[in-house]
Amino acid sequence: MERIKKIGVLTSGGDAPGMNAAVRAITNKAADEGIEVLGFLGGYKGLLNKDYITLTPKEVATVIGRGGTFMYTDRCLEFATEAGVMRSVENCRELGIEALVVIGGDGTFRGGTDMSVHGVPTIGIPGTIDNDITATDYTIGYDTAMNTALKLTDMLRDTCESHARVNVVEMMGRHCGELTLNVAIASGAVATAIPEIPFDEDAAVARVEKLMAEGKRGMIVAVSEGVFDENGNTIGEALTKRLCREIGADAKFARLAHVQRGGEPTLRDRKTASVMGAMAIELIMEHKSDLVICEIDGEIKPVDIRWALAADRMYKKKLKDGDLDSFTADEIDAMEALCEKRAADVAALYAVAESLAK
Ligand code: F6P
Repeated sequence: MERIKKIGVLTSGGDAPGMNAAVRAITNKAADEGIEVLGFLGGYKGLLNKDYITLTPKEVATVIGRGGTFMYTDRCLEFATEAGVMRSVENCRELGIEALVVIGGDGTFRGGTDMSVHGVPTIGIPGTIDNDITATDYTIGYDTAMNTALKLTDMLRDTCESHARVNVVEMMGRHCGELTLNVAIASGAVATAIPEIPFDEDAAVARVEKLMAEGKRGMIVAVSEGVFDENGNTIGEALTKRLCREIGADAKFARLAHVQRGGEPTLRDRKTASVMGAMAIELIMEHKSDLVICEIDGEIKPVDIRWALAADRMYKKKLKDGDLDSFTADEIDAMEALCEKRAADVAALYAVAESLAK
């Protein structure tokens, strides 16, 4: 087979600290192999509009420690149409792009499979602060976001302690509560609400009341943005009001929001991004496609992207008719085992959070 000479790379979906380190690794490893790299700006939008820069080791020399994505990002709705995909495929042909590396979350990988179906081999790298890609234990950006959220929560805890207050802190993660759960444990939260586990709000309020009566001053209640009440509202603000009204707590609400997505990536994120970026080029040189690079039990390895997307829909209970039709019984068993393990891990960690909430 002929050597690959030119590839494209893009970052898509919500930005995540460490995406730049992945692009740097792809660029430098590709340069080593004599592969030219075009960086499409603003995710799939750049691919659609042929908006790109040529990436060289010089271009990426200072990006490893920078937050955000210097290649910009977007959630591009136009790409998600048949016409959008076909135009992007045509653009790749015109530019001589022989393969793509896409960095982002599940939506990004779905876009990647649309490209590969039309003859543009694609490799995915998981980059999202949510850590919500079921096939991988880890997504780039997660560690930085958790540490940012922890730092901010610790700061709230300081002022809570001074004033004898409760701070309800809402964290990101979309439908995945793992970021919130880890920060809850690390900040010593007295209650935690995440989408994966039914939240006993009455018990949480009663616990705060008991701890107040025992003289505990500063308290953190960690809530994930993915936990909603019966009216479809996130629970944080209403819970804060309830704590004031029902038990006389001096409670405040803080939504950490997008600040969790910014900032310099941690060592963990830079390193994982670098290893995954280098592996993406190795896979491309082997003419591989439709793989997402995962971290599984500490090992970085490629997983079939369609299997990963189906396992993801299974875990998120979003499977549609026919989604599993192309998989063997063994492959489906492996998805089910993965989903069970992930759910059990979250449940075990939640039990730890609860047992320490004193
Ligand atoms: O997927 C990353 C994420 O930050 C989620 O945690 C959050 O729900 C969402 O993106 C916010 O999206 P946007 O940047 O479009 O407001």
